Amino acid sequence: MRDAFREAFGCDPEAEARAPARVNLIGDHTDYADGYCLPMPLPCATRVMMARATAFSARSEGHPPVAFDPSLPPRGDWSDYVAGPLAELAKAGIDVPPVAVLVASDIPQGAGVSSSAALEVAVIRAALLLVGANLPDAEVARLAQRAENLYCGVNCGILDQMASAAGRAGEALLLDCRSGEGRLVPVPSSFRFRVVHCGEGRRLAEGAYNERRAAVEQAASLLGVAALRDAAPGDLEHLPHDIGRRARHVVAENERVLAAVAALEAGDNVSFGRLMTQSHLSLAEDYDVSTSALDRLVASMLAAGASGARLTGAGFGGCAVALLPPEADAASWWAEVSGENPGAWLVA
Ligand code: GLA
Repeated sequence: MRDAFREAFGCDPEAEARAPARVNLIGDHTDYADGYCLPMPLPCATRVMMARATAFSARSEGHPPVAFDPSLPPRGDWSDYVAGPLAELAKAGIDVPPVAVLVASDIPQGAGVSSSAALEVAVIRAALLLVGANLPDAEVARLAQRAENLYCGVNCGILDQMASAAGRAGEALLLDCRSGEGRLVPVPSSFRFRVVHCGEGRRLAEGAYNERRAAVEQAASLLGVAALRDAAPGDLEHLPHDIGRRARHVVAENERVLAAVAALEAGDNVSFGRLMTQSHLSLAEDYDVSTSALDRLVASMLAAGASGARLTGAGFGGCAVALLPPEADAASWWAEVSGENPGAWLVA
C-alpha cells in the first residue's frame, strides 16, 4: 500500500491507521433506543494512509480519484465518508490541513458488517496521528457517527462506530448505548462464530431503517419515556398494533443481550445460541427486517447443527451469524450450509 501511495501521490504517507469490520452477535435495532448491543471485530479491515498536500484528494481501488473539500457540502459519493469525518474533526476544534488520502479495504460493502464505520474510524485515527492529537475511543466513535448522520445523511446509531473504534480481537463488546460505554467480554475458544453473506446485498435499507427508527421513537413518546430502554414488556400492551410489535422487539432484545453476556461469561454455548435464534425470530416477525434469503440461511445454519443463528446488522439482506457447538466439525457444517444456499459465501 505504501508503494501504491507513492505512485498515486508522489510522496510517502505520513500517517496510517486501520479499523476493523464488525459482526453484531446479538442486540440489533437497539442502539438508537439507548439499548444494549454485543458486537465483535472481524479480521477484515479498512486501512487509510495520509500525507499533507496542497489540496484534499482521495483514492480507493475501484473508484475514480476524487478532489473534495470538507468545508463544502457533501458530494454524494464515497469520498463523503472521508470528508465527513474530517469536517467533524474540524468542528471539534481539530483542524486537519489539506491531505492526500489512500483507502484500501478487504471489507465486503453492503454486507451489514460496517464497512462505512470502519472507513470513518480509520480516517479519524489517521488524521489524529497526522496532527499529533489523541482522543478516547468513545469520542472517535461519536465523531464518526456524527459524520455519518450529518454529512452522509444516514440516521444510524452508535453500534458500528463503537464496535470499530473500541472493539478488540477475540473479545465481544457489551455496549451500553445510553452511557456510550463499552465493556469487553472475553469470548471462550469453545465459542466459534461464522459470519455468512446470504448472497443478496441490502435492499431498500435506508428508508426502511429510518421508518423503524421513527416507530421506536414514537413508541417511546407514547409511553412517556426518554427511550425504549426505559420500557418493560408489560408497558407495551396499549400501544397501537404495529408500533407495539416494533417496541416488543426492542424491549425483548435488550433483555436478550444481557442474558447472552451472562451465558458467554458462564461458557454456556447452548443458552447463547438459543438467545441468538430468538433474536432472529423477533427481528423477522416483530421488526420485519429479515428477507427470505436470510430466513433460509438461518434455517439451514440451524439444521446443519448450529447452537443458534440470526441475521446481523440492519437486515434487509447481507449477513447472518451462527454459533457452532464446541464439538462441531466446522468444514462439514459449512459444506452443508453452502450446499443448501448456493449464493451464500463465508465472510469470517
Ligand atoms: C446499522 C446501523 C446501526 C444499528 C444496526 C442495527 O448497522 O448503522 O447503528 O442500528 O443497523 O442494529
